[in-house]
Amino acid sequence: MAPVNSPVLAIDGPSSSGKGTVARIVASRLGWHLLDSGALYRVLGLHAEQQGVALDDEPAVEALARRLPVQFREEGDDTRVLLQGTDISHVIRDERVGELASRVAVMQPVRDALLARQQAFAEAPGLVADGRDMGTVVFRDAPLKIFLTASAEERARRRYNQLKEKGFDANLPALVEDIRARDDRDMQREVAPLKPADDAIVIDSTSLSIDDVVNRILDEAARRSLVQSA
Ligand code: DC
Repeated sequence: MAPVNSPVLAIDGPSSSGKGTVARIVASRLGWHLLDSGALYRVLGLHAEQQGVALDDEPAVEALARRLPVQFREEGDDTRVLLQGTDISHVIRDERVGELASRVAVMQPVRDALLARQQAFAEAPGLVADGRDMGTVVFRDAPLKIFLTASAEERARRRYNQLKEKGFDANLPALVEDIRARDDRDMQREVAPLKPADDAIVIDSTSLSIDDVVNRILDEAARRSLVQSA
């Protein structure tokens, strides 16, 4: 079977399921582009705050989303995120900015405004798209969809380690609570709720290593002739 021109591998799942790390490694191993769609929502939340726009002012946030002055610069295996030329790669990883993101993400017109920008990432030789609605909304036709999850406790533990590593303050019980609250909000929302696409492969990574998950996804991509198997 001939490989698809610009195939998309959609990886969705809740926060701290490991999908960011997995998506980055898979993209690097395949030599494909990477879309971190959560970063777009984080940048938008931060931009709205910096511009003094109320996060529930739908038309105003939508207007910002339509002309969001963001650039993603791929540097080796890393991506620098620039907002109006300023490097905000580190700032957007803060829990506080995650909160801002989750508030702007509940508005349908805002999501619509970011749709074409996300779809434009699908370029040859292929794209690994990481988010919440990659397989259900943004790339419905993706030939491979993964839904990656893990228990709330395990995800909180991973997030705790990540934050500590980056020099942020962190409190484990508070993180478990935060993760549960964000899951609820992301899964219960009317707009693009977090759920596996009907044709997604669900992987529970609670007791799997990153390598296990990466290999499982690469095997599946090869099985579906999305890439030449080694
Ligand atoms: O994956 P993340 O933690 O960087 O995402 C930040 C927020 O953005 C999170 O609350 C969910 C939201 N989000 C979304 O609604 N749709 C996406 N495709 C990606 C993220």
